[in-house]
Amino acid sequence: PKLVIVNQAGEETEVEAIVGRTVMETIRDAGFDEMLALCGGCCSCATCHVQVDASFADKLPAISADEDDLLDSADSRGETSRLSCQLPITDALDGLRVTIVPE
Ligand code: FES
Repeated sequence: PKLVIVNQAGEETEVEAIVGRTVMETIRDAGFDEMLALCGGCCSCATCHVQVDASFADKLPAISADEDDLLDSADSRGETSRLSCQLPITDALDGLRVTIVPE
């Protein structure tokens, strides 16, 4: 599946994602230094904050209580905020657009 990653400058980059990895790993491995992902995917830092395309909301796993708490602590939580380390890549996510939110 392909993801479209939008950086802070609004530039879009299409990247090939690997099923079984996470959106966070996909963004990091594509070399985006705007994504800190400090905890490495343990759902304890909120620095992998992204906004996802609302049309994919039903293809993503539900927000866990931990993720919800962390997003509440984020500076700029929005309607479609997620922690990208909690989003496993599946074929259903082909074409998903994710926007990096600096934390
Ligand atoms: Fe830390 Fe996602 S990388 S919560």
